[in-house]
Amino acid sequence: MRLYALSDLHVHHRGNGDAVEAIPARPDDALIVAGDVSERPEAVHDTLASLRRRFAFVMYVPGNHELWSLRDHPRGVAKYAAIIAAARAAGAWTPEDGWWRWPGEGPATAIVPLCLLYDFGFAPDGVDPIAWAAEDRIHATDTRLLHPDPYPSVAAWCHARCDAAERLLATVPDGWNTVLVNHWPLRGDLVRLPLVPRYRPWCGTPRTHDWPQRYRASVCVAGHLHVRTTDWVDGVRYEEVSLGYPRQWRAHKSADHYLREILPGPDQLSGRATIVHP
Ligand SMILES: [Fe+2]
Ligand SMILES: [Fe+2]
Repeated sequence: MRLYALSDLHVHHRGNGDAVEAIPARPDDALIVAGDVSERPEAVHDTLASLRRRFAFVMYVPGNHELWSLRDHPRGVAKYAAIIAAARAAGAWTPEDGWWRWPGEGPATAIVPLCLLYDFGFAPDGVDPIAWAAEDRIHATDTRLLHPDPYPSVAAWCHARCDAAERLLATVPDGWNTVLVNHWPLRGDLVRLPLVPRYRPWCGTPRTHDWPQRYRASVCVAGHLHVRTTDWVDGVRYEEVSLGYPRQWRAHKSADHYLREILPGPDQLSGRATIVHP
């Protein structure tokens, strides 16, 4: 069995939905879908159900787009619950299902689905993050559509989810590796947004900076940036696995080209990786 990952499918954008439908079946392999499938629970369901027919196992974590409240959508935690219900109905494994034991080759590994949000802590110290972004004409749609109800703020919701995730991660047996799966990157130093650098306040929380070491991660899977990268830091591989908006991938290559192998994973000496010295 191989474990692949792809995120930011954004299936309502022209060409993206068809591209995801064209991914060939891999009935012996598993797939991680790392968020930003759609704002609509029905589309999340249909996309995951379709992928579930083609892969032996599908793990899914919501992104910020799933948590947007459009028109009649519930808000905040209730919207999250609606998305999780849709994903489970499609047969996908979600952050509400705990960690999953990797059945393939290699060391004992827990694949851990997370949905940790952000707390604006990736902004520079001492600035008002929203005003700092606005100086560069960055106005994140999350500010209008991602509601924290019943929490007082997205940051408070983020910290509650981090607390719950730490309790879950403490249940992984000693000596096991982990693969940490979250829509938002776990480390601020790996948030590189050359076109929109001041979008970084919406990209994660400093709370998770040391989680890969603390929880023995072999690989961390994220999306959200729409900037595909592979980084190695202190022996941990960080994969940003976005497909992204139509202009951000090449239609002639098909979405299949963008599936990233997570496990067993590429040879560390393949030369594909970027080495980062933070
Ligand atoms: Fe996205
Ligand atoms: Fe996102």
